Amino acid sequence: MNNIMKRINAISPAISVIFILSLGAWCHGQVELDVAPMEKTEQEALYSTIQGFIGNSWNGSDLYPDPCGWTPIQGVSCDLFNGFWYVTVLNVGPIHDNSIICSQNLEFRQQLFELKYLKSLSFFKCFQSQKRFPITIPTENWEKLAGTLELLEFRSNPGLIGNIPSSFSVLKNLQSLVLLDNSLTGEIPPSIGNLIKLKRLVLAENYFIGCIPDIFGGMSELLILDLSRNLLSGTLPLSLGSLTSVLKLDLSHNLLQGNVLNELSNLKNLTLMDLRDNKFSGGLALNFQEMYSLEEMILSNNPLLGGDIRTLKWENLQNLVILELSNIGLKGEIPESLSELKRLRFLGLSDNYLTGNLSPKLETLPCLNALYLSGNNLTGEIKFSNEFYGKMGRRFGAWNNPNLCYQVGVMSKSLVPFGVRPCQQEVNLLQSNKKTELIHVHMNQPFNSIPSIGFSSYATNGFWWSSLPKIIMMGLFLVCYII
Ligand SMILES: *[C@@H]1O[C@H](CO)[C@@H](O)[C@H](O)[C@H]1NC(C)=O
Ligand SMILES: *[C@@H]1O[C@H](CO)[C@@H](O)[C@H](O)[C@H]1NC(C)=O
Ligand SMILES: *[C@@H]1O[C@H](CO)[C@@H](O)[C@H](O)[C@H]1NC(C)=O
Repeated sequence: MNNIMKRINAISPAISVIFILSLGAWCHGQVELDVAPMEKTEQEALYSTIQGFIGNSWNGSDLYPDPCGWTPIQGVSCDLFNGFWYVTVLNVGPIHDNSIICSQNLEFRQQLFELKYLKSLSFFKCFQSQKRFPITIPTENWEKLAGTLELLEFRSNPGLIGNIPSSFSVLKNLQSLVLLDNSLTGEIPPSIGNLIKLKRLVLAENYFIGCIPDIFGGMSELLILDLSRNLLSGTLPLSLGSLTSVLKLDLSHNLLQGNVLNELSNLKNLTLMDLRDNKFSGGLALNFQEMYSLEEMILSNNPLLGGDIRTLKWENLQNLVILELSNIGLKGEIPESLSELKRLRFLGLSDNYLTGNLSPKLETLPCLNALYLSGNNLTGEIKFSNEFYGKMGRRFGAWNNPNLCYQVGVMSKSLVPFGVRPCQQEVNLLQSNKKTELIHVHMNQPFNSIPSIGFSSYATNGFWWSSLPKIIMMGLFLVCYII
């Protein structure tokens, strides 16, 4: 009931305006309704802006005589201010069937900046051809939108080149700046630090270079910072530690180096920390054990990071769901404290220098459905139960640990862990003839030279196999019965 009243209240100004106007038209004896309470300048600005993207043959006043009323344009939303319609949202790009589709030789027209109440502006798959029609972001006039613009987005525009204009810094009301998957270059302008109302800053998948500027001191409202998949280098700026409200921090797939900052532990609400595929060094930051909210810690493919896995009190990080520490040069024995992370679903420790025995306690993790330990120097017998191997299937990886073995008698053949040799082979070898010796030598080969083991897809499709952990990590969907 309440909702209906609210909607009627919201609609009624529009209806009454239309009613009054049509009444006026009636009184003057006109047959056609003149129902567009929209300033001429606003309407012209909208038509011209869109025409710049679609092309001169597009005639807005012909096709959409009342763009905020009876003939809405897909991707354009309007609101009433002082009894007149104004454009508040402009989405350019193929989202729906009849969206505004960009032509190849499009242009940004100045009229874009005349839209007085524009709150949200986005371009999706609009600037497509980097070679034939490269386009840069306009550098001037942004101050005209400074009072109103809250969201600015350029997404999946391979033809969008050039730098981030430093004039973006005038957009003081901006809450979301997303420049995702374009061909932008240059350094991140430090003036971005003036946008202190930002909740979301996404500059991922471009060609940005240079250091991450030390500009985060004032961004106390930021929730998402994603600078991943660029060419950023240098060390992490200290002011990242002042992003105390941030929930997701993704700096993955860059060329960053130096220490993973201890100061990141100030981010008490952080749920995702993704630093994978960089060149960090200096070991695990001790303070990471205080990031109590963390659900996903992904540090993989930082081969120079190093350090000992036992440095951190893992049992503190009770919210961890994904812990991915593969290929980070990690030493030491796998600590039993990991088996206290009751929400853990993915544990990746592959391609490190881990040693010692594998604690059967890991099996007690109630939610675990992927465990990768391959490419280490683990030793001794794996003592997991048949149920565990059955549950994990190929999502248990322990190959390339030359001194690791499974106990033969205990396990049914179908559950034998992939690429791990049976413990009794040693014994057999001593008493046996050349044939078994041959088999043994074979079994100690690096895993990918064993065609007989039955995973032919590895040989024919190495990509599939090597990316399996990633695929599983991205889709950790399996139900966990214990909360
Ligand atoms: C659009 O069409 C109208 C009437 O059909 C015409 O008067 C106007 O000049 C046209 N505008 C453009 C930009 O072609
Ligand atoms: C962290 O999250 C809690 C709960 O959502 C919230 O009350 C608190 O203000 C947040 N802290 C910061 C620094 O934003
Ligand atoms: C693996 O560990 C064994 C003993 O546990 C040791 O002899 C060997 O040198 C180690 N191999 C590597 C590559 O570190």
